[in-house]
Amino acid sequence: MMIISNIILKWNITHYDRSAVAPGYWFTAPYWQHDGDRDTGLWVPYQIGPHIFDEDGVRVYSYLPSIVLHTSTDHYDQVLVWAGSAESENRPSFDFKPIDLSIPGIPESERQQYLAWMYFHEPYAPESNGSVIIHDNHYNQEREISLAWNQIDTHDFHVIDHGSKALMISISRDEPSLVDFGQPELTARIDNSGFIELDLLAQANTTTHRLVDWSPLGRVSLDESYVINETNIFPDFMHANAIDKNKYGDYLLSARHTSTIYLISGLDGHIIWRLGGKKNDFAKNFNFFGQHDARFISVNETHYVISMMQNGAIEGDVRQPVSSALLVELDVENMEATLLRRYRRPDGGSTPRRGNAQRLPNSNFFACWSEQSYVSEYSPDGRLIMEARLASKRLNTYRAYKYPWVGRPLYPPTLLSQSHGVNGSELSTVFHVSWNGATDIAYWRFFAHANSTSNRTEIGLVRKEGFETSFIARGFMDFVSVEALDSNMAVMGKTFPSRTPGPEYWSGETLPTPDDPVQFLVGHNIKVPASRDIGALFGLFVAGVFSSAFLWAVFSYRHALNRYAIRCYSNLVLTSAGYLPISTTSPLNSPSPVEEITFLMDKA
Ligand SMILES: *[C@@H]1O[C@H](CO)[C@@H](O)[C@H](O)[C@H]1NC(C)=O
Ligand SMILES: *[C@@H]1O[C@H](CO)[C@@H](O)[C@H](O)[C@H]1NC(C)=O
Ligand SMILES: *[C@@H]1O[C@H](CO)[C@@H](O)[C@H](O)[C@H]1NC(C)=O
Ligand SMILES: *[C@@H]1O[C@H](CO)[C@@H](O)[C@H](O)[C@H]1NC(C)=O
Ligand SMILES: *[C@@H]1O[C@H](CO)[C@@H](O)[C@H](O)[C@H]1NC(C)=O
Ligand SMILES: *[C@@H]1O[C@H](CO)[C@@H](O)[C@H](O)[C@H]1NC(C)=O
Ligand SMILES: *[C@@H]1O[C@H](CO)[C@@H](O)[C@H](O)[C@H]1NC(C)=O
Ligand SMILES: *[C@@H]1O[C@H](CO)[C@@H](O)[C@H](O)[C@H]1NC(C)=O
Repeated sequence: MMIISNIILKWNITHYDRSAVAPGYWFTAPYWQHDGDRDTGLWVPYQIGPHIFDEDGVRVYSYLPSIVLHTSTDHYDQVLVWAGSAESENRPSFDFKPIDLSIPGIPESERQQYLAWMYFHEPYAPESNGSVIIHDNHYNQEREISLAWNQIDTHDFHVIDHGSKALMISISRDEPSLVDFGQPELTARIDNSGFIELDLLAQANTTTHRLVDWSPLGRVSLDESYVINETNIFPDFMHANAIDKNKYGDYLLSARHTSTIYLISGLDGHIIWRLGGKKNDFAKNFNFFGQHDARFISVNETHYVISMMQNGAIEGDVRQPVSSALLVELDVENMEATLLRRYRRPDGGSTPRRGNAQRLPNSNFFACWSEQSYVSEYSPDGRLIMEARLASKRLNTYRAYKYPWVGRPLYPPTLLSQSHGVNGSELSTVFHVSWNGATDIAYWRFFAHANSTSNRTEIGLVRKEGFETSFIARGFMDFVSVEALDSNMAVMGKTFPSRTPGPEYWSGETLPTPDDPVQFLVGHNIKVPASRDIGALFGLFVAGVFSSAFLWAVFSYRHALNRYAIRCYSNLVLTSAGYLPISTTSPLNSPSPVEEITFLMDKA
């Protein structure tokens, strides 16, 4: 890895019912400018592109009683698992998520998870060629499907049939007559948005094998559009944004600018019915406008259940002030559409573009409201159980998803060590370790040895804390290495041995001789060292003040104090050699979100 420093995205996350959220990681691809941020003056490396976050990353214990906080639960800080900015050349990426790419014949136990996203080859030319990138769970590129500009509409890369096929939105330019507007003698340039179905099994890295190529030409009329009229022909009259397929072989196409969801025959491509819009075929008890991400949830011969993001607006044309995710049932025999559930945007706001709504396996809903990468999760009965926004107001996302994930990078973790001290009396060595993309790390075990020929000595074992974990050892530890351990203490990976630079502000002329870690093992075998946790001392002080001054407060602080005690203890156990694992120095553990935090992440 060649990332020298990283600016980690930070979330403001609120849980309303921690136990009700579905398991899984968040997959989101923040960006500011669709075409790329480089010329904006606010471009920051390693913030844009595919990212995976762990909702359970760090538990931050509440120090204040529930009468002060608006929730009574402890707070969880979301933690970065993988920043894929380097892999996407720091460019905006779209529809980033795990995909099922189970090659037929491979037993389920040997199947791997894959990641997919799309991006344009030319950062400032959204109509340039683009690619679908597919990585395996070791973060190695499995394939890159390069597509011409009219096949790389970046809304949707929807893998179906266990990875044998993929559906994508396509665009083709056309110059039809304006017969739909009663002016058959005139023509105008328009963009037809249709879809393609790719054969992924026959798909090599660069060539595309198209099974289906559907165009709305002659099927969707220009006057279905809400964004054009006879005096104002804007090419993007339809703006398709999601494509799905059911077990009968028919396609569900969502088009924002006609505010219509089309069912399209897999046999001959004719439009079987329209839900919503100017030519709606259903009797329905709900409305939608400018929708995104229409998906089949369940289908039988008479009833279809579908989900969608109901934006209620197309840019400035706001028809419903509050956006929502919808679950609706369509009786396709009687052509009746019934709203089953509405999941409102928690802040009562509007999402006038982008967004998606994902039904999770436990029937929870996970919705992405796009701006500031705002996401929320709902229980099946529609109760809000979690909401979160990126602290940076700049970074939106097209979609966000929640999926299980096992990340096993083949590259080693990254370790940075630095010694400190101004003279021989009190030297120490600070370690920062991270492993971009690795899931399931529970502990980090630190080693040092005096010289290149001596054996390594374990100098500390600390719980993983956030994306990056820090540790301070006594002495000048020169030759160092770190192991990542899972919750069963099995070694998952280790850094290459590296050397620690001498103290930066050393006052003497010659640098100090590195310490032999073994010397610290003798006579210093303190199992639970004295607390150096300033936060804990501060907390005890605050608790003391409160308890003496306000007896009623003592009562309400009881639980928080208990958790405090647990916190102090759990951060300090697990030292094998009497070293002081000061494990809460990572800025990610700060309980109050700040916009963006810089710290060293990786070193060549
Ligand atoms: C974090 O989100 C909650 C819930 O939306 C909100 O009440 C709070 O003001 C936010 N905090 C910050 C610092 O933005
Ligand atoms: C696609 O290209 C990658 C390198 O970019 C290579 O590792 C992979 O084997 C190729 N896959 C196929 C199916 O040709
Ligand atoms: C990309 O665009 C160029 C023209 O700029 C074209 O010649 C080439 O075939 C395109 N590549 C793909 C994979 O579509
Ligand atoms: C056509 O659209 C333009 C721009 O939205 C609007 O100003 C105009 O009034 C519309 N014309 C008609 C006949 O609706
Ligand atoms: C189809 O699904 C609906 C519920 O969505 C159910 O009421 C109906 O019985 C089902 N029909 C068949 C034939 O299974
Ligand atoms: C190291 O510096 C401290 C503080 O200035 C001083 O008290 C101590 O004597 C110094 N030790 C040595 C070995 O120079
Ligand atoms: C290093 O450890 C091995 C076995 O663990 C031992 O045989 C060897 O003597 C040790 N070397 C040194 C320099 O202590
Ligand atoms: C290396 O360190 C060991 C102690 O671990 C010591 O016995 C040995 O003399 C050292 N070797 C050198 C070359 O300094």
